[in-house]
Amino acid sequence: MVQLEIGAAVLAAVLNIGTVSASNNGLALTPQMGWNTWSSFGCDVDASVILDTTRQIVKYGFKDIGYEYIILDDCWSDGRNATGYLQPNMTKFPDGIKGLADQIHDLGMKIGIYSSAGTLTCARYAGSLGYEDKDAAVWAEWGIDYLKYDNCFNEGQEGTEKLSFDRYNAMSVALNKTGRPILYSMCNWGVDGPWLFGPTIANSWRIAGDLIDTFDRDDPQCPCVEKEGLDCKVPGFYCSIMNVVNKVVYFPSKAFPGAWNDLDLLQVGNGAMTDEEYITHFSLWAAIKSPMVMTNVFAKIDARTLSILQNTAVLAVSQDSAGSSATRRWRYFVDDTDVFGQGEIQLFTGTLSGSDRLVLFLNAGTKDREMNATLEEIFWESGVGGTAPQIQEAWDTYDLWGGRMSNARAAGIIAGNATIPLNMTAQGGSPREVYAQTPPSNSTALMGTRVGAVKPGGKITVHAKAHGVVMLRLRQQLDKEKDEL
Ligand SMILES: *[C@@H]1O[C@H](CO)[C@@H](O)[C@H](O)[C@H]1NC(C)=O
Ligand SMILES: *[C@@H]1O[C@H](CO)[C@@H](O)[C@H](O)[C@H]1NC(C)=O
Ligand SMILES: *[C@@H]1O[C@H](CO)[C@@H](O)[C@H](O)[C@H]1NC(C)=O
Ligand SMILES: *[C@@H]1O[C@H](CO)[C@@H](O)[C@H](O)[C@H]1NC(C)=O
Ligand SMILES: *[C@@H]1O[C@H](CO)[C@@H](O)[C@H](O)[C@H]1NC(C)=O
Ligand SMILES: *[C@@H]1O[C@H](CO)[C@@H](O)[C@H](O)[C@H]1NC(C)=O
Ligand SMILES: *[C@@H]1O[C@H](CO)[C@@H](O)[C@H](O)[C@H]1NC(C)=O
Repeated sequence: MVQLEIGAAVLAAVLNIGTVSASNNGLALTPQMGWNTWSSFGCDVDASVILDTTRQIVKYGFKDIGYEYIILDDCWSDGRNATGYLQPNMTKFPDGIKGLADQIHDLGMKIGIYSSAGTLTCARYAGSLGYEDKDAAVWAEWGIDYLKYDNCFNEGQEGTEKLSFDRYNAMSVALNKTGRPILYSMCNWGVDGPWLFGPTIANSWRIAGDLIDTFDRDDPQCPCVEKEGLDCKVPGFYCSIMNVVNKVVYFPSKAFPGAWNDLDLLQVGNGAMTDEEYITHFSLWAAIKSPMVMTNVFAKIDARTLSILQNTAVLAVSQDSAGSSATRRWRYFVDDTDVFGQGEIQLFTGTLSGSDRLVLFLNAGTKDREMNATLEEIFWESGVGGTAPQIQEAWDTYDLWGGRMSNARAAGIIAGNATIPLNMTAQGGSPREVYAQTPPSNSTALMGTRVGAVKPGGKITVHAKAHGVVMLRLRQQLDKEKDEL
């Protein structure tokens, strides 16, 4: 019975039942991509920081591979005017937010803004609780395309799903009333299970406290270090990559096109993790279908960071039109641990458009190791006990990190003397159209490199580095005779 219920939920996710955007604004049909000011600039934001960054994002080609939203987080405001409308700090934004929005639009990007479903924002500027209609109206008038909506100073209006829903729904309704499509990104830190009500009112909802730039170090300020998944309904911050991943695995099917579990801002390149750990972070966020929102200081970006953030083979998983979050097939604890706790290994699998299959091996232990997955495990969602028809097929395996651009090329992009490997704009369409091809193009830029094949009933063995992943795309061999193993 339990098996059947899980099967139905997974089937709904696979078939994308209800693919209409949750908030009916037609936005975020694939997870939103962009850049946010908070992790690197905090309250030190102004028009030049944002415009300089936007120009760099465009110049380095991030726009041409799908990064779209420039999101101005807290500290832009100067309170309310005499008639109760929010006004910007005119010292920081001499042209107002409207003037800033116009310039960002002229650069081909979209603009996001920030507020809180409370009386104050987290940095104690005027919040939107009770002012939803006025605030939404003024943002629409300024040309805002995206709202990140925080949870500070909520006057205790939480503790049940209904209290949180009512507070967040008020803004959802207000945004809709403006008539302007504004992507609605709820940020209530996982309190009251936003995956239960977020899908009906918002484009994304944060599932946990703020992420920091750390792989698996537990911090007492990140709640529910011991408890995972559905029991964790309290706020907090300083959460690690592994902590957040081990929370979201319990409700992947709550996400669908237009409505996503948000694992929080990307920390890739911010300095406290290794290259391998940033690859793992970026891969998991793409596989689980979290929004992909960068936080870098682009004036200081290095080649290694650029080549992670611009891995279009991994972004093609994030932006795949099936919009199906990878699920965790298994998790085992291992003996090699770091000082922060138990080491573990996990296998994620996911549906991709055109019958392709995602396989992600996560080695969160401290030793490199071999990891294995059988086709039965990989296609477990399509039939119990080895009955999935895909098990009888032969598959080519592509390593999604195999085509990572060289350091020389990444450095050249930063220096302005090299081109990006795949300029989706130059192909005549938008990045979304390129990612939406079914089946996706077999170019290295979108598929990585072919590393092998697996025959019917077979298994895949990979070498996974410590704190690393192996992320594969499986594509069915049209002719089984080609099978090489
Ligand atoms: C507002 O909601 C209606 C009904 O769900 C929907 O048809 C419409 O597209 C929405 N408009 C905006 C701007 O989000
Ligand atoms: C990508 O191609 C477009 C259209 O040809 C061009 O305007 C743009 O500068 C190119 N982007 C980069 C980063 O070279
Ligand atoms: C507005 O910005 C200026 C310049 O950064 C700063 O000195 C001032 O305190 C800001 N005003 C508010 C209300 O934050
Ligand atoms: C307050 O701001 C709103 C929206 O920008 C504007 O329409 C209104 O005229 C302003 N009121 C005053 C008293 O400045
Ligand atoms: C994977 O398979 C190899 C070879 O069969 C074996 O040595 C290894 O122990 C397996 N690894 C795991 C984690 O089961
Ligand atoms: C590109 O610029 C970098 C930094 O100035 C330089 O090291 C590199 O040699 C240049 N490459 C080419 C192909 O001109
Ligand atoms: C991609 O597919 C086409 C058509 O099936 C084939 O001709 C080509 O060799 C493939 N390219 C790669 C890199 O696999």
